[in-house]
Amino acid sequence: MSEKKTGGLAGVVAGKTAVCTVGKEGVGLTYRGYDIADLAAQTTFEDVAFLLLYGSLPVESQLADFTGRLMSMRELPPALRDTLERVPADAHPMDVMRTGCSMLGALEPESDQTGGGGHRAAERLLASFPSMLIYWHHFHRNGRRVKTLSDEPSVAGHFLHLLHGAQPPESHRRAMDVSLILYAEHEFNASTFTARIAASTLSDFYSAITAAIGTLKGPLHGGANEAAMELIERFKTPDDAEIGILDALARKDKIMGFGHRVYTHCDPRSDIIKQWAKQLSDEAGDSWLYPVSERIEKLMWDRKKLFPNLDFYSAGVYRFLGIPTPMFTPLFVVSRITGWAAHVFEQRADNRLIRPAADYVGPAPRAFVPIGHRKPAAV
Ligand code: COA
Repeated sequence: MSEKKTGGLAGVVAGKTAVCTVGKEGVGLTYRGYDIADLAAQTTFEDVAFLLLYGSLPVESQLADFTGRLMSMRELPPALRDTLERVPADAHPMDVMRTGCSMLGALEPESDQTGGGGHRAAERLLASFPSMLIYWHHFHRNGRRVKTLSDEPSVAGHFLHLLHGAQPPESHRRAMDVSLILYAEHEFNASTFTARIAASTLSDFYSAITAAIGTLKGPLHGGANEAAMELIERFKTPDDAEIGILDALARKDKIMGFGHRVYTHCDPRSDIIKQWAKQLSDEAGDSWLYPVSERIEKLMWDRKKLFPNLDFYSAGVYRFLGIPTPMFTPLFVVSRITGWAAHVFEQRADNRLIRPAADYVGPAPRAFVPIGHRKPAAV
């Protein structure tokens, strides 16, 4: 790889946070001081969501109340269901999430920014993002207006139940739960920074999250999990993958699901989700997806010293869970709403408008030209 590039605010410290550390000594990830490996092994997504929204891990009664509140907020208002029916069947599901979030913000505006309105909006979105995605999906795919309530207490189980219309096997529910934990928060990444910028203008919670969803959609950010799946699917065998990846590298293509702006040695989330990909592969008797993925991983390390980020093996996990590829990035939203919310609250608690400066590289001052004397612009 060539010399370290500048631009893109790489290495720029753009503010303070008490929510998360990313890549301390090149590897670690903590949410409010807790190591991601401990959280992924010993908590549920609801535990982590509470930690991010309220600052500490919940005691049992708090967790039960929180889970109950989320379960009770899964229904969508009729006007939002109607909007989702009008979003085209061939729209990208990230457009569904962005539109659904914006519409809910119009129907149920954040009541106040200081007296708990933000937390209520965050819980409402956390509870209803899966409903929006699934309602739109079943309406357009199967012509059914599904109920968006279920008896599943966990977001993971609820989502899989609504998607497949049946209770998920425990390993599937837990794999999804772990993936939501891993996706929940990641410091000043592009979408979180977007949310903080919107919050810094004193805009409302739903606007900040709508802006963040638009930013997450891009393949250099959240969209990488879908792009990684599309890449893996191109290859029938590990040997095919080897040839295809070498060709892609020779063309200087970016291999989606590899590399990271902050981590330098490895993405600490990758091994955790990779173990789940392996377990689900074994359970499914798979002899294609996991071996192809591993070969790509090996090749990327041997040739480029690039490691997989969370998105690479998440793609495989989601495939084993029977989730359509265009839903991969929306699932990132289902989880990351917690981290975005934590950052919006933190920004609001000590706010100053985020408005950086730019180095001007345009024309020197020049005389104004009246319309009749101008040369045609090259358009
Ligand atoms: N595949 C191939 N080469 C890669 C690469 C990848 N996934 N990621 C980085 N590189 C190479 C670049 O080509 C570049 O090489 P060069 O200096 O010879 O031109 C060098 O590594 C630096 O890459 P750059 O894109 O400038 O780094 P960045 O810090 O701006 O980008 C990412 C970070 C994440 C955007 C980048 O690694 C990437 O595009 N990865 C794929 C998308 C992805 O998985 N995103 C999810 C991130 S969690």
